[in-house]
Amino acid sequence: MDMVPKPCLFIIGRNYTTQVLCRQRCIMRKFYKTDSTMNLNRQFELIRQSATVAMSDQINAMKASGHKLIGLQVGDPDFGTPPAVVDAALKAMQSGLTHYGPSRGFLDLRQAIASKLTRDEGISYDPASEILVTHGGIHGYYTAMQSILNPGDDVLVPDPSWATHSNMAIMLRGNVIRVPAPAENGFIPYFESWEKTLTPKTRVIVLNYPSNPTGAYPTREYLQKLQDFAKAHDLWIVSDEVYGSLYYSERPTCAAAFDGAKERTLIINSLSKSYAMTGWRVGFLAAPTQVIENALKAGQNSITCVAPFIQKAAAFALTNPEIQQATANMRAAYARRRELVLRIAHELESGKVLATPPQGAFYFFLDFRPLKMSSVEICERILEEASVGLVPGSAFGEQGEGFVRLSIAASDEDVEAGFRKIVEWAERQ
Ligand SMILES: Cc1ncc(COP(=O)(O)O)c(C=O)c1O
Repeated sequence: MDMVPKPCLFIIGRNYTTQVLCRQRCIMRKFYKTDSTMNLNRQFELIRQSATVAMSDQINAMKASGHKLIGLQVGDPDFGTPPAVVDAALKAMQSGLTHYGPSRGFLDLRQAIASKLTRDEGISYDPASEILVTHGGIHGYYTAMQSILNPGDDVLVPDPSWATHSNMAIMLRGNVIRVPAPAENGFIPYFESWEKTLTPKTRVIVLNYPSNPTGAYPTREYLQKLQDFAKAHDLWIVSDEVYGSLYYSERPTCAAAFDGAKERTLIINSLSKSYAMTGWRVGFLAAPTQVIENALKAGQNSITCVAPFIQKAAAFALTNPEIQQATANMRAAYARRRELVLRIAHELESGKVLATPPQGAFYFFLDFRPLKMSSVEICERILEEASVGLVPGSAFGEQGEGFVRLSIAASDEDVEAGFRKIVEWAERQ
C-alpha cells in the first residue's frame, strides 16, 4: 500500500508546505507514470484518482506537519460506531467466527436486511435469493455493475455524482454518458435530458439519492416516470441509496418501490453512513435472483466473503432497537448542523457564496459561482488562506464546476467555525 502514488490534486502550492507536498506527489507521479510499453490495463488511463481522498491525504499530511486545520472535506461520520455493535463483533470473534463465512452472507443478516427494506421502503425481498451481503456500498455497486454490464454498453450517470459511479462503469468497460443535473433544476436532470442521452446501446441508468455531493433527491412522481422510461427502453436502474436514511423532510422514495420496478432495479445500501460504520466495510445488494447469482460469483471471485464477525455485528446493528435510537440521534445532529450553516448564511448574507439547504445526506454543495474562479482554485486557496479543507465540485463532474462540497460530518464547533471562515474568505475576494 505504501507504493500507491499520492495524487497531485493541486498543481500550484502557494505556501511552503503545499509546495513541498505537491513536489513530493509530482515526483511520485513521475516515478509511477504510466509507461505505454508496460502493457497495463488502459481503462485506468481514463480514470483519475479520487479528489476526496486526495484532499483528505493532503489535509492529514498538513496536520501531521503541525498545521491547525478544520477538515470539512470528509464523507465519514464524526461519530463513533455505537459501542454495543463493537461488542457484538468482539463476541462473534471470541465465539470462533474468525474463518471464512458464507459468500452470500449469513442468513440472519440477509433476513435483517430484508426486514429493513420492508420496514423502511415497503418492499418485500426474499432473503434466500434476492439479497447479497457486500463489502460496503462500493462493493455492492461493483457487484451490481459487474453482473449486468457488457463491454461497450452505454451507462447514464447524472452529473454531478460521486466519482465512483462513473469510474466503476469505466473499469468494467462501459461507456459512460453524463446526464446534466444542473443547479437550476435542483441538481436533478431535466426529464428530457434522459431522453436526449439515450442511444440504442444504453443499458443502465445509475441513480444516487440523496445525492453525494448535493443532497438532492427527486419526487416520487419523477422516479415513477423514470421507471416507466426504463421499462419502455428495457434499461436497468442501479440505485445507490447509502444516504437513504439521512433526509431532512419527506422520506426519499426507494427506486424499487413501484409496481413492476423490482425486476429492473438493483438497490445498493450499506451501514457505513447511517450507522457510523464506514471502516467495517459491510453493505448489501438487493436485486432480482438472476442478478444476485451473478453478483455472488463476482463476490466469491473478488472478496470470498465479508468477515463473519462483521456480518454478525451488522445483523445486530440492523435489528437492535437501541442502535436504531443511536442512529436517530446522529440524524438529529446532522439536522442541527444543517440548521447551523443555514442560520450563519442568513446572518452573514454573503453574495459570494450561496448555501442552498440540502434535502438529505450530510453535505452542502456551496455555490461560489459569483466569484468566477475554478472550484479547485477555491479549495486550494481556502485551505491555504483560511485553513479549511473542502472538496472541489468539479471532482463530481462538469456541472459541479463553481461549487464546493462542505461536509457537516464534523463537530458543531468545526462546522460553525469552518463555515464562518469560508464566508469571510469569500467576502475578501
Ligand atoms: C454515494 C456513495 N455511495 C457509496 C459510497 C461508499 O459507501 P461504503 O463505505 O458503504 O462503501 C459512498 C462513500 O462516500 C458514497 O458517497
